[in-house]
Amino acid sequence: MPRFRAPRGTRDLLPTERAAFARLETIARDLAARYGYAEIDTPLFEESEVFERGVGALTDVVEKELFRVTATRGEEDERWALRPEATAGIVRAYVQHGLQALPQPVRVSLCGPMFRYDRPQAGRYREFWQWDVEAIGDPGPAVDAELIELGLRFYASSGLTGVAVHLNSIGDGECRPAYLERLQAYFGAHAEALAPAEKARLSVNPLRLLDSKDPDLAGLIAAAPRLVDHLCGPCADHLAAVQAHLAALGIEPHLEPTLVRGLDYYTRTAFEFYREGAMGQQQALGGGGRYDGLVELLGGKPTPGIGFALGLDRVVLALAEQGQAGSPPVGPTAVVVGADAADTMTRLQLATDLRAAGLAVRADLAARKLGRQLEGAARDGAHFAVIVGDELAHGQVQVRDLQAGTQRSANVADLARDLSRGQAGHRHG
Ligand code: HAM
Repeated sequence: MPRFRAPRGTRDLLPTERAAFARLETIARDLAARYGYAEIDTPLFEESEVFERGVGALTDVVEKELFRVTATRGEEDERWALRPEATAGIVRAYVQHGLQALPQPVRVSLCGPMFRYDRPQAGRYREFWQWDVEAIGDPGPAVDAELIELGLRFYASSGLTGVAVHLNSIGDGECRPAYLERLQAYFGAHAEALAPAEKARLSVNPLRLLDSKDPDLAGLIAAAPRLVDHLCGPCADHLAAVQAHLAALGIEPHLEPTLVRGLDYYTRTAFEFYREGAMGQQQALGGGGRYDGLVELLGGKPTPGIGFALGLDRVVLALAEQGQAGSPPVGPTAVVVGADAADTMTRLQLATDLRAAGLAVRADLAARKLGRQLEGAARDGAHFAVIVGDELAHGQVQVRDLQAGTQRSANVADLARDLSRGQAGHRHG
């Protein structure tokens, strides 16, 4: 066993797996651009308070899973935390840079790693990748539907089938407090059925009880009062309008009255993406919702907002389960090999010139026999082997088409154009 290993809950993305992530990132960036969501990046760490206030000090994500970073420099001892999600940091940036002055909503998108000190298992990591999308400054309901459709579009573009959206409304400051009291009273009357951790939740965050995976609670949860039945007029209208907009796009969400989210900033629209009929424990592929109070919580003027984040690790896993494993990185157009094993200099020079002309070219830099060099070129998945020999003195090399099994002479002066033409011909042929 090697002495050093990647920390528990983190993974090295070796080239084949990294290629699967890169493909998803390309789809995400492409969709974001088509839907008008501009790319943004925020630091991987923030002042902890951004998450304590934004995500909520009493959520699992902040209370149990935050990676806290303390740096002590003489007098200075500052507290930061690695970002467990992107929304709080993006909203912090929105307030800090006065993005409220721009035409609203501000539509942004971010791809990157997030960190949660979770118990690692398949699909649950301590470092994981999200594609996060936010529309800040639009009260909806149309933009709610736009985002849900965008999420579904991403899964479809990735090749993943059978993804459904689960939708709920978790109310707002008008209707939620009375509902929470009702819920507390309900579970309070059945306190004997609750485990100690669940009893603790009852007073701080009773909504999360609805999310419990405890099979003994399933019956109690099913019979619990439902927030959808106690929404105030504006929240009920909003939910109906989101559904109507989704219907206009041909999307029928699965209404899920027990859907609550693990972060405190949500108001009204809450949704999650699931793969229908997936084996094993149902993990959300992504989730999001409206956060109409978050900008104000982080020091800005009252501003509505909505967004989602999709877990890229879980999409890669789901694609593999569907038999769509990642493909290995594509090989180079050509590998430059040579009859004179020792002449690595000429091979390196020629490869450098071809790369400068824009081609993907590797030079065989090992002083080994030509046969071994050619085997290496084939193993790399190269289209061509460029064989350097004595005829180089007359401006000529041999070009072997490793896929067609043919070989011919070619002019060095014209080689870059020759190889790109050959490759394009192959691609379209
Ligand atoms: P979230 O539901 O906490 O929401 O995370 C979104 C997605 O990230 C999850 O559905 C899951 O696919 C993935 N994910 C979360 N934790 C892990 C983990 N430990 N390992 C692997 N994947 C994970 C948010 O993060 C919100 N910021 C979404 C949002 C954006 N709401 C509004 N705007």
